[in-house]
Order: sequence, then structure tokens, then C-alpha cells
Amino acid sequence: MNVHLTIHGRQGLAGQIYRQLRAGVIDGRLAPGERLPSTRELATQLGVSRKTTLDVFERLIAEGYLRSRTGDGTFVADEMTRLAPRPPRTAMLHPSVALWESLPDVLPMTSRERPPEFDFIGGVTDKALFPFDQWRRCVSHALRVLARAPGGYRDPAGEQELRLAVSRYLAFSRAVVSNWQDVIMTQGAQQAIDLLARVALRPGDVVAVEDPGYPPARTSLLAAGANVVPVPVDDEGIIVDRLPPEARIVYVTPSHQFPLGMPMSLERRLALLAWAQQHGALIVEDDYDGEYRFEGRPVESLKSLDKAGVVAYVGTFSKTIFPELRVGYVIPPAPLGVAMRKAKQIGDWHSCTMTQTALAKFMLDGYFAKHLRRMHKEYALRRALLLHALQHDLSPWLRPLPSSAGIHLVAEIRADAMTGSGVEAMLVERAAAARVGVYGIAGMYVAGRPRPGLLLGYGGIGTDRLRAGLDRLKAALERRPS
Ligand SMILES: Cc1ncc(COP(=O)(O)O)c(C=O)c1O
Repeated sequence: MNVHLTIHGRQGLAGQIYRQLRAGVIDGRLAPGERLPSTRELATQLGVSRKTTLDVFERLIAEGYLRSRTGDGTFVADEMTRLAPRPPRTAMLHPSVALWESLPDVLPMTSRERPPEFDFIGGVTDKALFPFDQWRRCVSHALRVLARAPGGYRDPAGEQELRLAVSRYLAFSRAVVSNWQDVIMTQGAQQAIDLLARVALRPGDVVAVEDPGYPPARTSLLAAGANVVPVPVDDEGIIVDRLPPEARIVYVTPSHQFPLGMPMSLERRLALLAWAQQHGALIVEDDYDGEYRFEGRPVESLKSLDKAGVVAYVGTFSKTIFPELRVGYVIPPAPLGVAMRKAKQIGDWHSCTMTQTALAKFMLDGYFAKHLRRMHKEYALRRALLLHALQHDLSPWLRPLPSSAGIHLVAEIRADAMTGSGVEAMLVERAAAARVGVYGIAGMYVAGRPRPGLLLGYGGIGTDRLRAGLDRLKAALERRPS
């Protein structure tokens, strides 16, 4: 093979390999008809899991860059002769294109051919339990309202009744007190973070994120040209003493640290607020799944403790309804409100009016609160089942990390069970072979030494199937690799 592949760090491995192979095909270094090494050879050569190379090959085949001949191997597609060699694209374009191209892939590529039968993926909710009939009524209502209203663009900050519903909900359930006028509706938490980065940062500004942390937030900050500094977390949350003094933004997940799961202690919250006030920094509090709290005393949100106006509170309906809805919100500190509203307008004018009106009705008519109560009970059951399995059947390999909220847990891989740099990938691969989806957390570390562990989401497997999924996982872990 006429292309040299290099891997930087442990983040977005599939994306790194995919981009380099694709570039090799496009610029002709990989000639049409040329045979590629097998996925197994390539995985060994690059020190990645076989699943990673399999996923990359599958995607390149689906996109027409490669072709596989059964029993013979994988080759560069012959049609590639039609692509005349040309200079690297980025050289012709503005340097910022190179920045965008270098960003890690935000979404992991999942194998489409053999989806897991039991998928412990994080970040998904159980749609089978969502009250679609009630939602349909709310959408019909929204359509009637829309049909009657005069045509035209709407307020970039969102529909008034939804902002009111969100403001009330936050006061009641998260002790976050706001005026409805302070709430800006966004396309998920992701857009809220992106807008904050746009208005509060200049290229080169220093931003602190948790390490390990939530990759899409980090990517959004990188895309804004920030100098993103990973700051370690301990069992109380981000270590305030390690924050770079020049940080303009500190992005944190205090209710349920992503991915590890522990809540930030009250002492740490107060220290972080004092630090931000002293350094003139903005704290972005991502409260992405804090509504599901299962044990312990609730700790006040940073926003509710914030007397100095340094916290932007970000929330989402992705974990309480489903991520496809694309509805989130932000309550920025008052001085940022005007800029944020303008940034939202410049980005997409406003979020979908029909969805907002339907959601407002869903909340104001009490359906949302009812759904949350039901899901809370359901997820509590699943969490208890999962914890029980981790403390018993799965305990030879895994140990749950303390966590009191959210819809996923992290279990570290016991060092006395397995050691070595590849244990996480090995367990993921063994589970995948048994059609069980579990996900390593190593890719969520930037600078810190990864603590091998698995992220286990319980939104995507029904309570009635969870036991079977856990049994299958146990059987997969017991199986010695051949
Ligand atoms: C830390 C964190 N923040 C935010 C989100 C939700 O993002 P969005 O509202 O854009 O779907 C997730 C989803 O997995 C998350 O894990």
C-alpha cells in the first residue's frame, strides 16, 4: 500500500484513518485496483481495534472509494481513474478550511451491517415509552396555530410560551430562577455551546474543558479557534487549582460529569464560581441530563449559586424527550443576552416554530412532567439492574464509578482482571462479536492518562431486555479470545 498512515492520540481513530485513506485515493497515491492490507493487518499495524478498521473500510466501500472482492481482499475502486490528480484542496483555500478539516469527527461511526442486538450506547432515550399520541395532539395544535398566524420570521430567541414553560420548569425542577425573557431556545445544547463560543471568544483565546470530557463541546470550541486546554477532574469534579489563569471560558458538566458520572461537590462549585469571578471568565454549565437524579442530596446548580453573573446555563430536551427533536436552551449571563440573540439570528434566524409551539403545549398541559416521572421510575429500575450486575456477575472485569444521576454509568475495567494498553478495545470487540454494543472512554481523554472503562447507557435497551443484554455481555467477557 502506497500511503503512510499516522495516528495522533486516541481520539476519533476511525475518522483519522478514514480521512487519510480517502485522501490517498483522491490524490492518486493509492492507485485504482491497488490492494489494501486486510482490516486485521491494518488494525495491528496502527494499534487500533479491528472494529475501527472494519468500520472505516465499510464506509469507504459504501462511498465508492474502495471495492471488496469476496475472499480476495479490498481494492481501490477502478472508477477512481476518472479523478484527475489535483493539488491538495486546502492549499487553494483559506487556512481556516484546514482548521475545520482537522477537527475530530464528532459522531463515532457505527457499523451499519451488524448493529448490536443489545446496545448500551450513551445519549439515547427510550422512544418506545414516549407518549406519541399526546405529542401528535400537540403537533396538530401547533399546525393550527401556525396556519392562523401571519407569515414571517419569528423572534430569534424562541416562542414566548415555550420560553415561559422552560423558565417555569427550570425554577421548579432545577432551582434555576430566570425570567422567560432570559431564555434563548436553541437547536440542542450543541448550538447553545456553539453560540456561546461565537460571542464570547476570539481566535486564540484559552478555554478550559474537563479531561475526560464531552468531545462535541470541545470540538465546537476548537472550531471557534480557541486554544482548548484540558483540565483534569477528580472525584469532586474539575480541579480548579489546575485551571489556566487566562481561560476565558470554562466548560463543565456539574450534575453528572461527562463521561465519568460524579457530581461536582458543593465546595468545588463555590471554588469554581469564585475563580471565574476573580479571573473574569465565563462558566458554561452543561446540565444535559441532571433531571434524572437517583440518590444523594441535590446540589445546587452553578447558575443558582451564581451571584456575580458568570454562568451560562445550558440544557436540552435530548435526554428527556429524544435527541432528534433538536431543542435545547441557554440562559446566558444578562450582559451576553443581546449578543446571543443576534448570534442565533445570524446562524439560523430561529428554531422551528412548529416544534416549539408543540413542545410548549406538551409542557404547559402537563404531559412533559408526567413523561419525566414515568421515565425517572423506568431508568431507576434499569440503573439498579445494571448496578446489580456490575456488582455481581460482571464484577470480575468491571467496577462501577460513583454516580448519582443521568442515563449512563461508567464502569472501570479492573486492573486485576486485565492490564495493557488495549484492554478497553479488546472488551469492546469481544462484546461486539456477541452483538452487544459497549463503548470505551479512552477517546474522551485528551491529555490525561486514560483510565480504561466502558460507558454503559441504559436509555436504549428496554427494562424487559436489559437482563438478557447483561447476561450476553457476561458471556462475551468470559469468552477467551481465540
Ligand atoms: C455532555 C453532553 N452535553 C450535551 C448533550 C446533548 O446535546 P444536544 O442537546 O445537542 O443533543 C449530550 C448528549 O449526549 C451530552 O452528553
